[in-house]
Amino acid sequence: MTATAERPPEAHVTDPRNIVEVDDLKVHFPIRSGIFKSVQGSVKAVDGVTFDVRRGEILGLVGESGCGKSTIGRAMIRLREPTGGHVYFDGTDLGGLGNEALRKMRRRMQIIFQDPYGSLDPRMTVGSIVSEPLDTHGLAKGQAKRDRVAELLALVGLDPNYVQRYPHEFSGGQRQRIGVARALAVEPEFIVCDEPISALDVSIQAQVLNLLGDLRKRLGLTYLFVAHDLSVVKHISDRVAVMYLGKIVEIGPPDQLYSVPGHPYTRALLSAVPVPDPTAERKRKRVILKGDVPSPVNPPSGCRFHTRCWLYERLGQPENCRTDDPELTVLEGEHRAACHYSAEAQKTDVGVAHIDDRPVRHGTPDAALAYLAAEKVEDPAAIDATDSARLEAPIVVEAGIDEEDPRTETPTA
Ligand SMILES: Nc1ncnc2c1ncn2[C@@H]1O[C@H](COP(=O)(O)OP(=O)(O)OP(=O)(O)O)[C@@H](O)[C@H]1O
Ligand code: SF4
Ligand SMILES: [Mg+2]
Repeated sequence: MTATAERPPEAHVTDPRNIVEVDDLKVHFPIRSGIFKSVQGSVKAVDGVTFDVRRGEILGLVGESGCGKSTIGRAMIRLREPTGGHVYFDGTDLGGLGNEALRKMRRRMQIIFQDPYGSLDPRMTVGSIVSEPLDTHGLAKGQAKRDRVAELLALVGLDPNYVQRYPHEFSGGQRQRIGVARALAVEPEFIVCDEPISALDVSIQAQVLNLLGDLRKRLGLTYLFVAHDLSVVKHISDRVAVMYLGKIVEIGPPDQLYSVPGHPYTRALLSAVPVPDPTAERKRKRVILKGDVPSPVNPPSGCRFHTRCWLYERLGQPENCRTDDPELTVLEGEHRAACHYSAEAQKTDVGVAHIDDRPVRHGTPDAALAYLAAEKVEDPAAIDATDSARLEAPIVVEAGIDEEDPRTETPTA
């Protein structure tokens, strides 16, 4: 995971179980200024990430705003040109493809965008939006095309008679369904879902999530599912990856990543997820990360999380955190974290004391979605006033854990 010299593509051996393999991917955006627009530096949006996406899985990708999630998603389907590294789709290095070969390959990979308002052309009818990819790839004409569009609209739960309508005539949830129909038109195998529910009303989110889960099962799709919130991806993902400032800092199956996280950042994110259960909420040990996310133009030396890491403070600011960039290292099975002190991180209960013991998903989207729907029914308003007050009043110190937090029943290790 460290920024290394570029690996030649021939050194990479692909595994047929993976649909996508990302090898030391970097996407840097040049910063230009002055009259001659000379390059003054670069935004290191993605700075050396290596991971795989298995066929048929949902890989959740989570991290704070600006950490590089969308840039990774776009680079994985070569909507962004990487600065370094490689993306292999079904064994083929996308970087080595010419325009025509790439256009053909694009049929197999699609993207669903976050903003269902901005991502649909307001001047096009729903019929033209959904049929555009069919035209681009020369897949259907005339009646066959009209039939296919009607079939796609029905597939995403929209009335096929809507073909002549315009996007402004639809709600946010319906627009997102149009975006899903457009993505499915070319029968892709892999879809980057870039925060597909974040812009929707909470009441609609579960419906669209349900639709995506159902389509995945029916059509045998694979998703990279980008989200801000660890709680959303917990129940739909086969594996979850956590990003910080252009790097993946932890990746693994949800049952391990949520119960024994090996990276202090994952623990900080988990500790910020409120829980409706007042008993669990009382046990919740919260961490507030000090300061803002550092600039991706000049990421901190060594471990780029050290400027905000509570464990670094607790361990007395060890030097290697400032000098050595930690690699993603196996903790157990498929669970990996990039922290020199992941063993120490795993010994604490920061961020996990509140995690309930209900099962997480193991390849059963229906169970996960039912669970999610049931979870939403648990209205925080049902919590009594004292507990609500506790929910709204975090007692946390900067730069670490509040050891004096009266809600904390068990002191940390
Ligand atoms: N076209 C661009 N030119 C320059 N910088 C960019 C460009 N696109 C993204 N960036 C920068 O790259 C970094 C990563 O952006 P990205 O959109 O990938 O983050 P993100 O994790 O998807 O954020 P969010 O959660 O807000 O969607 C940010 O600092 C962003 O400002
Ligand atoms: S390597 Fe050091 S600074 Fe980085 S996450 Fe681990 S403890 Fe914190
Ligand atoms: Mg984004």
